[in-house]
Amino acid sequence: MKLLVTGGAGFIGSNFIRYILGKYSNYEIINLDNLTYAGNLENLKNIESGIGKGRYSFIKGDIADEQCVDGILRNGLDAIVNFAAESHVDRSIDNARIFLETNVVGTQVLLDAALRHKIGRYMQISTDEVYGSLGQTGFFTESTPIAPNSPYSASKAGADLLVRAYFETFGLPVLTTRCSNNYGPYQFPEKLIPLFITNALADQPLPLYGDGLNIRDWIYVEDHCAGIDCVLHNGRVGEVYNIGGNCEKTNKDITSTILTELSKPETLIKYVKDRPGHDRRYAIDCTKIRTELGWSQHYDFAAGMKKTIAWYLDNKPWWQRIKTGEYLEFYKRWYDDRK
Ligand code: NAD
Ligand code: DAU
Repeated sequence: MKLLVTGGAGFIGSNFIRYILGKYSNYEIINLDNLTYAGNLENLKNIESGIGKGRYSFIKGDIADEQCVDGILRNGLDAIVNFAAESHVDRSIDNARIFLETNVVGTQVLLDAALRHKIGRYMQISTDEVYGSLGQTGFFTESTPIAPNSPYSASKAGADLLVRAYFETFGLPVLTTRCSNNYGPYQFPEKLIPLFITNALADQPLPLYGDGLNIRDWIYVEDHCAGIDCVLHNGRVGEVYNIGGNCEKTNKDITSTILTELSKPETLIKYVKDRPGHDRRYAIDCTKIRTELGWSQHYDFAAGMKKTIAWYLDNKPWWQRIKTGEYLEFYKRWYDDRK
């Protein structure tokens, strides 16, 4: 199988490339990524000369660039897996424009090209955030109405609706996954878990938004990759599949776990102004992917967090370089405003 993976230099995309090349010795992958602040070729170090030798290649380019995408698809492909996105809610509150350009227009460009070149399967990697926020009870199922609350989730919902429309209108063989919060190696250190691990290691404050009681459903990234693999190969076209960790935690719980694991004091916690439009609770019902496709999780939260913390401890140069680079510009502006 020959796959185009977009956004493969980011967190989940790079984990997915490693997962697929490790599992299928005859698969080929082209990684299309325009290397935004979140894209990092170090995430794929040694792939070209190691497990991906002769069957992995990287192209620097934008998914919204029609010519670039067309040139790649002209060479023949079996499937596209679209991870490429602007993915950080806080950045979308700061400036939404690029979110629409990449997440909506980029998806439309990929869909049109997939149609033109008769691609066998198009997979959209989406998010549980398109469903909006839950109250104290209940779960998101695939038939929960879409009700996004941030510019990020609105742009992802827009993309999901385009994907659905290309199935209904043109019969394009599409599949969509909507996953909950991922954590694991190579996650950019401005998302909750890597930010708090790396701040705690440097004895810097951990900025908890609001009362710290918002709930997310956490999944170890490799389990998400395994779910995408199941849907890519065995999912029914036109369908949406939820993927979740069955692991609801408040942000305060997450923070305490990190501080305990690193033997750091609770005094590092700093309550700051809340994120505007902050969704209160996410929880995924993933009965469909479990019963239809036989997917199940391998890592529970304790095991996943141990692996994740160990990775950040073992890879200090990776995150220290990021935390002293351009990323600071956004981080400083955003957090100064929340003090
Ligand atoms: P990330 O921000 O770490 O990586 C995104 C990647 O996309 C980067 O490598 C970036 O350079 C690339 N990219 C951005 N704009 C591009 C463009 N115009 N053309 C080509 N490449 C571009 O994101 P992530 O956390 O790995 O998320 C990957 C996907 O999974 C996203 O679509 C996101 O919405 C979805 N998702 C993420 C989570 C999560 O918890 N992180 C959960 C569910 C779904
Ligand atoms: O649910 C899936 C989504 O999970 C993905 O679609 C997004 O791409 C991904 O970024 C993630 O979105 P969140 O907004 O949930 O992730 P984030 O790590 O930014 O925040 C997790 C929770 O922690 C959220 O309730 C906000 C809170 N938070 C976050 C940061 C960065 C804090 O309290 N302090 C912080 O400094």
